[in-house]
Amino acid sequence: TNDAAADVLRGHVRDIQDWPQPGVVFKDITPLLSSPAAFGVVIGAFADVARERGATTIAGIEARGFLLAAPVADRVGARLVPIRKKGKLPGPTRGATYDLEYGTATIEIHADAVGPGERVLLIDDVLATGGTAAAAHGLLADAGADVVGLAVLMELSFLAGRERLGAVDIVTLLTI
Ligand code: PRP
Repeated sequence: TNDAAADVLRGHVRDIQDWPQPGVVFKDITPLLSSPAAFGVVIGAFADVARERGATTIAGIEARGFLLAAPVADRVGARLVPIRKKGKLPGPTRGATYDLEYGTATIEIHADAVGPGERVLLIDDVLATGGTAAAAHGLLADAGADVVGLAVLMELSFLAGRERLGAVDIVTLLTI
């Protein structure tokens, strides 16, 4: 269940103070990745979400989202689609730009990666301000995909990312 996965996750995330900048507490998931048992529980929980929602495609957001999306796609037999930072995908792309605290960022998807009606579960490690996930959702929706949900390990609720995601159905294992 998601509750069991949340307990496992809680024990395998490490707080790193003042990284990448002073005043920020970074949620480090490398302890989760380094425990096959814990990682399996968490991937299993996301795989259950993918199955329940009939996802045919898993979209992962660079970089830590890739680490989660790939094993979920493999477990459920879904297609895997990477959403990458600007300039990384080799083929024709579509991009979305969003605001950061200082400046902007752009993410891209291959123009032919998803099609109309395709059922896509979007996966990332953390939902913070929601800018990245909202941009990724926009790229998928603009391609005509049916985004069946956003699954994240952790949601930093004090940053209110959920509010930028409108009607997107969000699964969060841990709310911080
Ligand atoms: C982090 C995280 C999410 C995003 C969340 O990625 O993995 O993708 O930020 O932030 P937001 O909700 O405020 O948009 P980061 O930009 O650090 O990229 P990386 O995984 O490539 O290091």
